[in-house]
Amino acid sequence: MAIKKLLRMGDERLLKKSEYVQNVSSSEVQSIIDDLIDSMHHYGGVGIAGPQIGYFLRILVFEVSQNERYPHAQAIPLGALINPEIEILSEQRESDWEGCLSVPGYRGLVPRYTCIRYRGFDRDGQPVEREATDFHARLIQHEVDHLDGVLYPMRIEDMRDFGCDDMLWQRMTGEPYPEHMKQKLREHWDL
Ligand code: NI
Repeated sequence: MAIKKLLRMGDERLLKKSEYVQNVSSSEVQSIIDDLIDSMHHYGGVGIAGPQIGYFLRILVFEVSQNERYPHAQAIPLGALINPEIEILSEQRESDWEGCLSVPGYRGLVPRYTCIRYRGFDRDGQPVEREATDFHARLIQHEVDHLDGVLYPMRIEDMRDFGCDDMLWQRMTGEPYPEHMKQKLREHWDL
């Protein structure tokens, strides 16, 4: 178990397509899942995908409890998803603000399908099939994009809707940017 260094946008490896996992129960895959969970918790993300910490395998983890970066998001219990596939259930799309641990300090308005079904395997190798809407659906689409080498800024339709987190916070939440988050942002940039 380890907190890994994050790859950040501009690193060409984030643009690669990740490989399918052959053996979920292998100690290699199990330890990658542990590293993903540790790193997600350490950096305060709601989801993270293998390539973001340098593992180019189709694995992602997510967890939404009370997250200060997404104060209004619905709760989702900790889960790992291996070899995920997405089926779009409705052509309806909605735009909302996204951030990414690999694009620290920024936000953008991204259109996503509002209703999907996803399939894959959990860390015990059991099949997972779930319908997801709204934030949950958005999160899965964002993370699966990472496995295909796509970062959210590539999906923004109007680049006026892309900018610094602290500058956009007022527009997103109607509230001033919290002081302790400013501190975190300063630490982020002290690389
Ligand atoms: Ni991301």
